[in-house]
Amino acid sequence: MTAAHAADIAAIERATFAEPWSEKSIAALADDPKAIARVLVRDGKVAAYYSMYVVAGEGFVNNLAVAPDMRGRDVGSALMRDMMYAASLSGVTALTLEVRESNAVARALYEKFGFKSAGIRKNFYPDKENAVIYWLNI
Ligand SMILES: CC(C)(COP(=O)(O)OP(=O)(O)OC[C@H]1O[C@@H](n2cnc3c(N)ncnc32)[C@H](O)[C@@H]1OP(=O)(O)O)[C@@H](O)C(=O)NCCC(=O)NCCS
Repeated sequence: MTAAHAADIAAIERATFAEPWSEKSIAALADDPKAIARVLVRDGKVAAYYSMYVVAGEGFVNNLAVAPDMRGRDVGSALMRDMMYAASLSGVTALTLEVRESNAVARALYEKFGFKSAGIRKNFYPDKENAVIYWLNI
C-alpha cells in the first residue's frame, strides 16, 4: 500500500469496526519499516487490505477487512494467502492476532487457514467483549 490508499481503507474501517483506525494512522503504515501493509485494488479502489507489525520474527496482525460489497467471494481467502506469503518473505515464522469472540466469519476464515486459538483476553475491547487470541506457525 501507499499513503494514497489510506482514504479508501479508512472508509472501509469506518463501515466495519466500532473503533476504526484513523486515515492518518493508516497512512503512517506505508512508511513504517516495521509494518507489512498490502491492499487489493479493484477498479481503482481498495477492495481489501491487511496490515501487521513485524517484531522479532513474529507478525502481529493489526487489521484485515474486505469492502462490504465484496465479501463472500473468496477475497478474504486471497488476502490470507498473500499475508502468509508476504510474511514468510520477510522472515516471519509466526502470525498472531486478536478477534472479537462473536466474529464468527473472521474466526472461520482464520481457522480455515490453520490459525489455532491460544486463549481469551477477557474484556479486551472497549465494550468489554472478549478477544480470542490466534496463532499460526508459518
Ligand atoms: C472476515 C472477512 C475478511 C472475510 O472475507 P470474505 O472475502 O468474505 O471471505 P471469503 O469469501 O474468502 O470466505 C473465507 C471463509 O470465511 C468464512 N466465511 C465467509 N463468509 C461467511 C459467512 N457469511 N458465514 C460464515 N463463515 C463465512 C468461511 O470459513 C469461508 O471459507 P469457505 O468459503 O471455504 O467456507 C470479511 O467478512 C470482513 O471484512 N469482515 C469484516 C472485517 C473483520 O471482521 N475483520 C477481521 C477482524 S480481526
